[in-house]
Amino acid sequence: MTSPQIQFRDRQSEVDLYQLQELFNMSAFWAKGRSIEDLRIAIANSDPVISVWDGERLIGFARATSDGIYRATIWDVVIHPDYRGNGIGSKLVETVLAHPKMRWVERVYLMTTHQQKFYEKIGFQANNSTTMVLDNQSRMSYLATPEIQFQESLGE
Ligand SMILES: CC(C)(COP(=O)(O)OP(=O)(O)OC[C@H]1O[C@@H](n2cnc3c(N)ncnc32)[C@H](O)[C@@H]1OP(=O)(O)O)[C@@H](O)C(=O)NCCC(=O)NCCS
Repeated sequence: MTSPQIQFRDRQSEVDLYQLQELFNMSAFWAKGRSIEDLRIAIANSDPVISVWDGERLIGFARATSDGIYRATIWDVVIHPDYRGNGIGSKLVETVLAHPKMRWVERVYLMTTHQQKFYEKIGFQANNSTTMVLDNQSRMSYLATPEIQFQESLGE
């Protein structure tokens, strides 16, 4: 049972970046050491962004990127260690999936190293057939000049 004061919020602007940085440093091995500025960019370019609060304490977070119809990916799902095992994590993922940007999407992807069982309970299935990854940062040094001039809009 979720405590009555636990609240789910879906506004990007309501995320306290300093608390989020602390939550990631404590509980998310893949997201340690992220800067406030980079977190701001990631959130500005994600929708939905769902945060979970116990009063003014940030105790959970998840975000997704979605084209609204074909494909979406869920990122950075985390619940504070003090609050795990109470159904909040699954409710968080269900809240992401229920968002209008996610609800009609044909396929929802996510990457997980250790939490397959948690996601299986929600309905996700292992999928070895489609996954590839590019280490884009190590590619920067020999990046070819693009043919088009991009409009810089990231993080605005
Ligand atoms: C994974 C995480 C978000 C789960 O949050 P939570 O609030 O503890 O999850 P819930 O209480 O909603 O669990 C829902 C169900 O999944 C099960 N479950 C949760 N984590 C599990 C795990 N690692 N292995 C097996 N089952 C798990 C619970 O027992 C529960 O089962 P039930 O419905 O039969 O009672 C949380 O453990 C966490 O933040 N972990 C560290 C960050 C992380 O690894 N995030 C995922 C990155 S992809």
